[in-house]
Amino acid sequence: MENLIEVKNLYKTYQENRGFLSPKTEPTKALEGINLEIKKGEILALVGESGCGKSTLGNCILKLIETTSGEILFKGENILKFDKKQTKEFRKKAQMIFQNPYSSLNPKMKIGEILEEPLIIHGFRDRKKRKQDVIESAQLCGLSEGDLKKYPHEFSGGQRQRVAIARALVLKPEFIVADEPISALDVSIAAQIINLLCELKDKLNLTFLFISHDLNIVRYISQRVAILNKGKIVEIGETQEVFDNPKDNYTKLLISSIPKINI
Ligand SMILES: Nc1ncnc2c1ncn2[C@@H]1O[C@H](COP(=O)(O)OP(=O)(O)O)[C@@H](O)[C@H]1O
Ligand SMILES: [Mg+2]
Repeated sequence: MENLIEVKNLYKTYQENRGFLSPKTEPTKALEGINLEIKKGEILALVGESGCGKSTLGNCILKLIETTSGEILFKGENILKFDKKQTKEFRKKAQMIFQNPYSSLNPKMKIGEILEEPLIIHGFRDRKKRKQDVIESAQLCGLSEGDLKKYPHEFSGGQRQRVAIARALVLKPEFIVADEPISALDVSIAAQIINLLCELKDKLNLTFLFISHDLNIVRYISQRVAILNKGKIVEIGETQEVFDNPKDNYTKLLISSIPKINI
């Protein structure tokens, strides 16, 4: 399978403290020499404990934050060298689904406006076509045309995450980073969202970086998995193979601590 994304020797150091109350004064080395490939059409899961650098890597790959050094290739081209115009084109093709569907949607905008906004930003002038695209994207995610007139507060957490997914899809991207997209949801709702993502992947031929700390979900959803520990990838491979036969000690520890599901 061909690579959609290649990350080469990526480093990210945060110079500043995150907040006023943070006791740290040293810069944070969040990522130290990451190398990985994401193959076209796969779901690559990125796993690791809180604070190990998962979101940082997802944000670097989408160029949402600055990378300290290294290369990120999208279809063979280094996105870190892209000029403004190229970056804007890249943004159409690569989208993020955030963890929290409560804070990631503007409460003052109707769902229809939220879904249309990316199309407006990217200069799609044909109003009628925009409306069509919005309806299509909403329906793909299990939302109705009537839902477009509502506001985020009228929806449950699961429906809001559907809106966030529909917004990510409206520009017809090829690549999606989903950063813990279900961790704010109840278990049964989470399962529906996971199934929706799998369905969309097949229907739209998408490629995913799926960030999670839930290994049961990862085993279910991903073809390959990368294990991140303190800013370094300690193991990467076919999901089945890594779960059945983990090589790295940290991976072994993570897998041995998976809560068993009793059915
Ligand atoms: N904006 C920021 N400024 C400073 N430090 C940050 C910032 N974002 C994350 N960090 C630090 O970088 C490290 C990795 O964080 P993050 O990528 O959010 O981890 P994860 O998503 O795996 O929980 C942590 O030590 C975190 O405190
Ligand atoms: Mg995170």
